[in-house]
Amino acid sequence: MFTGKGGVGKTTMSVATALQHAGVGKTLLISTDPSGSLSEIFSRPLDRKVHTVAPNLDAVELTRKLVLDLWRDKFAEEIYAVLSSFLPVGREIIDYIEGAPGIDEEFMLDYLLTMAESGDYRTIIWDTAPTVTTLNLLFVQQMFYSHLTQAHKLYFKVKKVFNKVDPLALIDKWRSLTERIIELLQTDTCAWVVANPEPLPIEQAFDIADSFNDFGIEVKGFILNKVLPAELCQGHPFWQAKFNAQQKCREKMQQKSNNRPLKEIPELIGDIQVDGFLREVAGLLHKRG
Ligand SMILES: Nc1ncnc2c1ncn2[C@@H]1O[C@H](COP(=O)(O)OP(=O)(O)OP(=O)(O)O)[C@@H](O)[C@H]1O
Ligand SMILES: [Mg+2]
Repeated sequence: MFTGKGGVGKTTMSVATALQHAGVGKTLLISTDPSGSLSEIFSRPLDRKVHTVAPNLDAVELTRKLVLDLWRDKFAEEIYAVLSSFLPVGREIIDYIEGAPGIDEEFMLDYLLTMAESGDYRTIIWDTAPTVTTLNLLFVQQMFYSHLTQAHKLYFKVKKVFNKVDPLALIDKWRSLTERIIELLQTDTCAWVVANPEPLPIEQAFDIADSFNDFGIEVKGFILNKVLPAELCQGHPFWQAKFNAQQKCREKMQQKSNNRPLKEIPELIGDIQVDGFLREVAGLLHKRG
């Protein structure tokens, strides 16, 4: 996964890396940013379902709407069965629960798990939303897990009132799902934290690395993106001053990265929409050493 502050280059690194991996085996590029930009980059709607966007490369954008539609298909009936067995509620309870905070976040990771367990892909490249949204995604997962542990005790006490369904079996199923998601994140996922050579993105990069450590997600390394090339700044007072400020940030990042790999990508001409740009980024990102 690629993570970091808003606008630092997460999507650029994700797409470049996904194209690189597609050269080796079947790859899925997945975005959990509710306002993601994969559809624009590949010039086709990727917010409804998975599409093949290049040889060996599939992509999908998990928008809130797509996630909630998938959630309905998979869980709504089970939830209705549990609740209607002891409460006088109609199907409108499904709409009510769908609107609860965290449902879309919880289900995004369930979708990621489904894709990982499908065995269809050698690699999944995960383009995330800016820092706070992604951290919420992880915390909701942990909260849901401890909630289900509590729920087990609660439902056990009132087990007799259920007649149509066995809530404990369902809760066990959901808990096992949550457990598998946490395991996927802790054992099969690694994060690259992207930052620009400016104080705030760098500070956030280390904060997010700490949070990921707490959560048990491996932080593989850091990417310092949009570093001004020295030769373009010499002789231009404004650009030279900006270059000097960036170099200070770069040194700080080198010190704090604590022997973890730190890759650098220069500020390039063009952008993600320009042909050749992603290949150039991929070349720089994946060069040896
Ligand atoms: N090394 C680079 N040189 C020049 N432009 C770049 C570079 N890296 C990224 N960009 C441009 O910067 C902009 C932001 O990049 P990108 O969309 O990848 O960031 P992001 O972190 O995914 O943003 P968001 O948080 O909004 O999802 C894009 O227009 C992209 O083309
Ligand atoms: Mg992005």
